[in-house]
Formats: sequence, C-alpha cells, structure tokens
Amino acid sequence: MRAINEYTITDAAIDQMAATPNPRMRQVMESLVRHLHAFAREVDLTPEEWLEGVRFLTAVGQKCTAHRQEFILLSDTLGLSALVNALHDKRVSETVTKSSLLGPFYRQDAPMMKLGDSIISRCKGTEVVFYGRVIDSAGSGIPNALVQVWEPDETGNYDLQKHDPSVMDLRGCFRTDPEGRYYFRGLCPLGYMIPMDGPVGDMIRAQKRHGYRPAHIHFVIGAPGYRELVTALYVAGDAHIDSDTVFGVDESLIIAVNKSDRSSPLPNLPSIHYDFRLAAARDQMSGRVGADPSQVTSRVVEGGA
Ligand SMILES: [Fe+2]
Repeated sequence: MRAINEYTITDAAIDQMAATPNPRMRQVMESLVRHLHAFAREVDLTPEEWLEGVRFLTAVGQKCTAHRQEFILLSDTLGLSALVNALHDKRVSETVTKSSLLGPFYRQDAPMMKLGDSIISRCKGTEVVFYGRVIDSAGSGIPNALVQVWEPDETGNYDLQKHDPSVMDLRGCFRTDPEGRYYFRGLCPLGYMIPMDGPVGDMIRAQKRHGYRPAHIHFVIGAPGYRELVTALYVAGDAHIDSDTVFGVDESLIIAVNKSDRSSPLPNLPSIHYDFRLAAARDQMSGRVGADPSQVTSRVVEGGA
C-alpha cells in the first residue's frame, strides 16, 4: 500500500484518473491536480483556509442566476479570462483584431436592427455613431457579418442590472452591408464599477482594489467561414485605462471620439471609427466563443434536474 503524504498524494490522485477515456479531459485534470497541490504546498494551506475557500466558492455559485454570472466575474478579476483570450489569439498566425472580455452581461437574444439605428431606448447621454468595416486578414470586406453590441448606461449599469430581463436597452445586432460596413448609434461609452454586492466584490475590497473598468463598448462579431471575435473598444484618456479591474484593455483596442468626422455616415454626430479584422476559421477554431452566460445556468439546471 502506498503511503499517502504531502508529496505522494499528487501521484495517487493522478493515478486514479489515468483511465479517463477523453484524452483532453485527462490532460486538463492531471495538470489541474498537479498545480492545485503545488499551490497548497507552496502556501502551506491550513484546514481553516481550505474551508474559507469552500465557503467563498459556494457563495460565488449561490450568487449566480440566469442573468448574473459571478463565476465569470471571478475569472475576469483574477485575470484568467484575459489569459484565456491571449492563448486564443495566439492560435492564429494572421494579424487580426485582439480579443477582449465577454464579461457577464452578454445576451444572445438582443434585437436585430437596421444599419444606422440607435441601440438607445431608455437612457440619456451623449449619442455617438460607431462605424467601420468588418474585414478579413487581407483587408477585404466581409458582407452580412453579424455584429452584436452592448454597453452600460449613463449610471454605469447594464440593462440586466436595472430592469426585468424582458427589458433590453443599449444592445442590438446588425448585419454588415455588401462591402462589410457597419454603423449604428449608441451612447458615448462610459466606465463603471464591477458588481460589488457579491463575494467577488468582497474579495476586491479585501485586496484594496478600486473595482473600476474604463469606458468601453462590447462586440461579438461572426460570419460563416471566420473565427468568431469577442472584443471591446476602450475610450482613450479614461482614468482607469491602465488599471482595468478585469485586464481587458489592449493598446490596439483603444479608440478616440472624433467630434468632427466628415467621413462618418452620420457626420452631425461625434463618431467612433474602428475596423474589425477576423481570422479565417480552421477546424477547432470555428466554434462559438461568445456564449450567453445565461445558457451556463440553464444547462446546470437542466443537468441537475
Ligand atoms: Fe462591460
């Protein structure tokens, strides 16, 4: 019989998983156990701290609903989401638009709108036009690409945080024209504090972090034959552009608001111009990456029933 001690426990746990038929699952779980055990040894984890960790993760799960995803928020604030995005971006050789965080507030059922429409239905603030093209790595326009957008209101809240889920504001879907162009009206992006009324907020306060995200607007862009892009545009000059609580900002995603833009399709409004470059889909890269967080909860409920 193998003696179980602080070192042999790792191989003992991994040996029991050796018959896992799915090779990727086996690889991921073996590595997870190795790193989890190394972490516990490194910090000399005590039973009280282990229990505190169990309590924290339980609270994170209990905070989740179909319209609130505390686990995504936890992943975002630990930098894991940004790391996964960086690994995802590394899998293409072409120079394309970088990924940024999906975050917890995407909805796949936002209304379909016509180019030039406004996504503002309730809130107040400065209206701007967002415009540009969806292009491939060679610069050719991608017609009929689906451009999904969402942004917070003038109080820094998404519709899901303020209203019944049947109410939608500041989100919409658009199709690019035959040249790959898109344009729509929305609110000039604003920054906000991440939801602080749950266990992730407790963690942020305990770490003396400010909890803010710089002004941004989210995009999910897809077209047949291209890898779906989940990204966001960040407004230059925001006080938190260099200290985003969820590490979403990349220099290539920072934009400026142009107050006098003659090239804009709506030249009387301030404009934000950006061309999104998509990578061609290849095998394992063609899957959706912009999944609606509410689907996670519904799958868990169905699975647990
Ligand atoms: Fe956001």
